[in-house]
Amino acid sequence: MSRNISIIGSGHVGLVVAACLARQGNQVTVVDTDEEKVRRVNARVCPIYEPGLQEILSQVNIQATSDYSLISNSEIVFTCVPTPSNTDGSISLGYIKDAIEQVSLTLRDKSDYYVVVVKSTVAPGTTEEVVIPILESSGKKAGIDFGVCMTPEFLREGKGVFDFMNPSRIVIGEHDRRSGDILCSLYRDFTAPVLRVNLKTAEMIKYASNAFLATKVSFINEIGNICKRLGIDTYEVVKGMAYDERIGNKFLNAGIGFGGSCLRKDLAALIAKARQIDYEPSILREVFNLNERQAVKMIDLLKRHISVKDSTVGLLGLSFKPEADNVNGSLAVTVVNALLKEGARLKAYDPQAMANLDGLFPRVECVAEEEVLGCDAILILTEWEEFEHLDYRGKIVIDGRRILKAKEAEIYEGVCW
Ligand code: UDX
Repeated sequence: MSRNISIIGSGHVGLVVAACLARQGNQVTVVDTDEEKVRRVNARVCPIYEPGLQEILSQVNIQATSDYSLISNSEIVFTCVPTPSNTDGSISLGYIKDAIEQVSLTLRDKSDYYVVVVKSTVAPGTTEEVVIPILESSGKKAGIDFGVCMTPEFLREGKGVFDFMNPSRIVIGEHDRRSGDILCSLYRDFTAPVLRVNLKTAEMIKYASNAFLATKVSFINEIGNICKRLGIDTYEVVKGMAYDERIGNKFLNAGIGFGGSCLRKDLAALIAKARQIDYEPSILREVFNLNERQAVKMIDLLKRHISVKDSTVGLLGLSFKPEADNVNGSLAVTVVNALLKEGARLKAYDPQAMANLDGLFPRVECVAEEEVLGCDAILILTEWEEFEHLDYRGKIVIDGRRILKAKEAEIYEGVCW
């Protein structure tokens, strides 16, 4: 059965969810305050880089608008707006409060039942303590006049369409059974296990999942830092660990750490939430702190081989990971700032991100790969596949992301192997 759905927010989550639900046969409206995004979605020009998304957008009939009142025609409303960090690491609820207040306004005049679904990543307790009170300020009652659900997204940037269409699990946090039943109906064609829990359990599943992923990265980087001092190849160690199916080999790539706009933000938010309830999360705190220290180890290694001051240092990769076209949360920012502080001149190449540096690298000259290879030393910050096909012979390379070809360099150092 086709449902009439509204999606608030047309970023990497909102637009992927909108396009995939539309392709499932639902009537989808996307609401965004960014008129340029609205224009591009209506013109079927994908405003973000997500492999496969442009093709779907071209096939489906999605209406985009900046007019919130149009959501009153929906049966289900998803909020897919950002929840950025406050300075203390807790999440800023500004965007989600604005969106929910708009939903509350439409609720006031709405007679038929509809389900409000929080998909933004919010701290445990937020849907019950913040979202529902705003919705009930409409005079309507949750569980009677409208439904409420919280269903976290588990999408990786650059793999959003794949991850939405191939979920490992579907988590439905429900205020009441009726809300959950309606949301579940959207996923009837999926084969993944569906977990129906209460609202704050769903919120915590998201945070605990990302915190664990971050913990795996910091764990293997800690092992890597020890291995580096012992002259052991960490990647060989992981191979020996992975045969134990309880360990596996996923998310155990040692390097300069986890970047991006999610893991660090969600980990900081969980730490902040724990502290708000008078619990000091010592493991999570060290996972975070180790990651903060990891990337600048490249500078220490570089100094073993050249005088950084007044040298020209080449950077391969600026995006936070391959297949991402942006530098949001990229550890390249940390490395660049440290190199500039040491007085280095910087040249960089990235296959996708150079068009989206958002002013973060004003003193870095973007050049072709060959020019980076001509620098006094080269730092590898992102493991783009094309970097496995460069000629590193005679070079000095500090590798932050394990490009095997680079081992042919005259001097090669792995950040933690
Ligand atoms: C992450 C989670 O994977 C996803 O489930 C969640 O919904 C959003 O946050 P994303 O941030 O897009 O997705 O990227 P991811 O592929 O997880 O990588 C995050 C960072 O960790 C990257 O900088 C990557 O280079 C780094 N990483 C990842 C490692 O350093 N080692 C690894 O083994 C894996």
